[in-house]
Amino acid sequence: MKEIKFDFNNLFSSSVGALHGVRQEEVAASSEVILKAHAHLKKIISSRQERINLSLEWVNLPFAAKEIIAVIQKLGGEIAKKYEFVLFLGIGGSYLGLKAAQDALAPWYYNEFAALRKGRPRIYFDGNNLDPDTLAVLLKQLNPKKTFVIVISKSGETTETKAAFSVVEPWLKKGAGKNYGRQILAITDPASGALRQKVNIEHSKDKLSFRSLPLLKGVGGRFSELNMGLLHLAIIGVKIEQVLAGAASMRKRCSVADIFKNPAYMYAFLHTILYRKKSKPIAIIMPFSETLKSTADWYSQLLAESLGKKYSRKVTSDKFGNETWKMDTAHIVNLGRTPIAARGTNDLHSIQQNNIEGVNDKVVTFIKVEKFKNEIKIPSARGILSGKVYSHLLNLAEEATEWALVHEQRPSVTIILPEISPYYWGSLLFFFEMATAFEGELLNLNAFDQPGVEGYKNYMYFKLKKPGLCEKIAAEIKSKPLVKKTKFII
Ligand code: PA5
Repeated sequence: MKEIKFDFNNLFSSSVGALHGVRQEEVAASSEVILKAHAHLKKIISSRQERINLSLEWVNLPFAAKEIIAVIQKLGGEIAKKYEFVLFLGIGGSYLGLKAAQDALAPWYYNEFAALRKGRPRIYFDGNNLDPDTLAVLLKQLNPKKTFVIVISKSGETTETKAAFSVVEPWLKKGAGKNYGRQILAITDPASGALRQKVNIEHSKDKLSFRSLPLLKGVGGRFSELNMGLLHLAIIGVKIEQVLAGAASMRKRCSVADIFKNPAYMYAFLHTILYRKKSKPIAIIMPFSETLKSTADWYSQLLAESLGKKYSRKVTSDKFGNETWKMDTAHIVNLGRTPIAARGTNDLHSIQQNNIEGVNDKVVTFIKVEKFKNEIKIPSARGILSGKVYSHLLNLAEEATEWALVHEQRPSVTIILPEISPYYWGSLLFFFEMATAFEGELLNLNAFDQPGVEGYKNYMYFKLKKPGLCEKIAAEIKSKPLVKKTKFII
């Protein structure tokens, strides 16, 4: 069976010059650094306790038990059969993976045409913003009697998701009647959080109401698509085993120390050199596929939240070798590449101008698809386009973009997918997850926390008068308010 390929020709100095490219000797000269990072990752991955404590349990998601998959497939099948609409509420890691799967694995225009859905429900996502112009419109259009609501929040405390659910629940109650709770399912932490508490209380009154699926311990939101996203896959009719098989195969490839056999390590290592030694802090993720654009958005979150960090990681070990990671607050490092999700060919007519002639501070990651699900042939007598098929033109555009970048001494890499199938999509996700974990090792960061997102939350909690907000935080916000001078607003 074919596997995903990683082509890194265009990163080397032989292609893009010594100023902007990696010298091949640099890879050989870094073997010690690579082996050290590999040994550390291997050590923490091999211990269940470490995986859970340090949030690396996602490495085992590809090996979900058959019985669990069967339960989720069955539940998804039941929901799909019974409801016309399924509304998912969630944000960040509780949204982006599902949206990526929807766009990549369901037929494009799935919601618009019954023939494409094959009897399955239309899918909607909300709770991923606080924009009243989405949810308000949606709730006016959906029929609550025919809608199933799936609320996803690992913490069960996220404001956006809470706000959406606080509106959707009474809407459902009003429209669907007293058994409305049977149309709600929560995917959340098995024990903690406001959502878990709510679900447990409601579920104890009626066992068919407010059902829930537990999220695995030690899996952070953005690494959890292969856990929290499975029910969504089942509802839209994607074979979960195939997604997981693809991820499992990538896991195997990404477990070896030899960087020339490990695509995730090579990807992370080369990007780290370009970032640190060749001033390339911008990561453009550019699939040449409309349906993979949301996967690029998903990876953008993974990269930004995992590796954009103020402090390095300080590792301490107990007498059994079990590690604790803390932030090394003695030094501010402000590390991390900045992702920009794009897609070809659409963005060749927008940001590509900047990629080619703007500051040479970017590395473009192309995702190229060899075989598409559909094909279109252009009729004859259409000049140079006569008789050409779309997939050929799309891949030619990708090749042309690689050439144009190389020509201007701009580094890029290409991930090649044989096709956009559940197997290769699962494989792609795992590739990016493993690459992110390895990049975290190379940068000596904790890739599995996101302390930087607390700032805006705390400010909102302060303004919303959340009980129990830490006094130190409240005092800090009070002492340093946002200053808005009218003379600077014109
Ligand atoms: O990756 C993460 O942990 C975050 O992006 C979360 O997924 C996001 O903040 C949503 O959190 P929760 O699932 O707890 O509502």
